[in-house]
Amino acid sequence: MIRLLITGASGFIGRHVLEELSSAGYSILAPMRRPMEFPDRNLYKNVIFLEGKFYSDTLLREYENFNPDMIIHLSAIRGEGRGRWKDYYEVNVLGTKKLVEFALTSQVSRFLYCSTVGIFGTTPSRLPADPWTSANPEGYYHISKYQAEKTIIQQLRGKIPHILFRPTITYGEGDNGFIPRLVKLVRSHMFPLISRDILIHLVSIKTIREFVRKAVQKEALEQDYIVNLADKEPVYLTDLVDLIHKYFTGKPYPRILKISPFLFNLGIQLSKLLKQTSLQISLQLVSQPWYYDTSHLENLCDCTLKDSLKEVHELLKKMYPSHAAKSS
Ligand SMILES: NC(=O)c1ccc[n+]([C@@H]2O[C@H](COP(=O)([O-])OP(=O)(O)OC[C@H]3O[C@@H](n4cnc5c(N)ncnc54)[C@H](OP(=O)(O)O)[C@@H]3O)[C@@H](O)[C@H]2O)c1
Repeated sequence: MIRLLITGASGFIGRHVLEELSSAGYSILAPMRRPMEFPDRNLYKNVIFLEGKFYSDTLLREYENFNPDMIIHLSAIRGEGRGRWKDYYEVNVLGTKKLVEFALTSQVSRFLYCSTVGIFGTTPSRLPADPWTSANPEGYYHISKYQAEKTIIQQLRGKIPHILFRPTITYGEGDNGFIPRLVKLVRSHMFPLISRDILIHLVSIKTIREFVRKAVQKEALEQDYIVNLADKEPVYLTDLVDLIHKYFTGKPYPRILKISPFLFNLGIQLSKLLKQTSLQISLQLVSQPWYYDTSHLENLCDCTLKDSLKEVHELLKKMYPSHAAKSS
């Protein structure tokens, strides 16, 4: 049986990946800091849960005993404003480096790394950004993810096949990120909707699950790849906001609440000046376009890319079943 080491299995994406791969029958080692809090862990018969930081020397020794065939590295401090640079560097860069060193000594057959489209910057220099668009990371989170990418490429090139997949902002069950926050703001009429239409590009967790399963299974993937993971098409932010508002009220988001691009730009410049990177990125995300080329993804692994608006609507029905307006 193929043995997989999966870091970050306790996180939003990790739980989905763990469910997908354990139900496919793989033997899995899942390090996490608080395994006792993992829900329904007894149901995962082919998973060994380990307690600790994924890059600690104690756990690295445990990995040696397990002798994995592949590593799926999902752990990271995710998002801006979660600590000092020292913290991001230790977990996202040095932690990855230790795993890479382990991969080299134990000669795994494949190394999968979950990066982020954030390495292009909040608004990529080219739209749609393809995997070769130049990197321009902003903030500790994106910079640390980019440094981790570079470590993997430099150290594993020509030695161990590696796949770097870069999801855009991901939505799905169990997430507490972009969509739940957007829902909260839209429902309270606090969302600052920009007065011009911008295209944004999300990805369903279902695509990540499918991609990782195929990347583990497919022999054709025994080469080095870098892919962006996103839904079939980008969507207009206005359409997404209207969809959410209509779900709860039956009506589109009030147009009176629209804000001019000038005010957003002012906010972005001010937050840059005051070094409020987290605020700067949030303002950029809701006022500037960000979307990605996924044609390479379809060619590579034949993944079924999703329709964001349809999927978000389904998600709302699952998350807020008793709050739907009659017409939605
Ligand atoms: N969610 C998104 O929209 C999105 C988009 C693009 C890329 N990504 C990438 O996808 C991966 C998974 O993200 P996610 O959304 O699942 O994030 P998440 O829910 O925050 O989970 C992150 C995982 O990283 C581990 N981790 C966090 N801080 C740590 C620390 N200080 N020391 C050691 N381990 C730590 C946690 O493991 P333990 O607590 O169990 O140790 C947790 O399982 C990340 O690499 C992220 O960069 C996510």
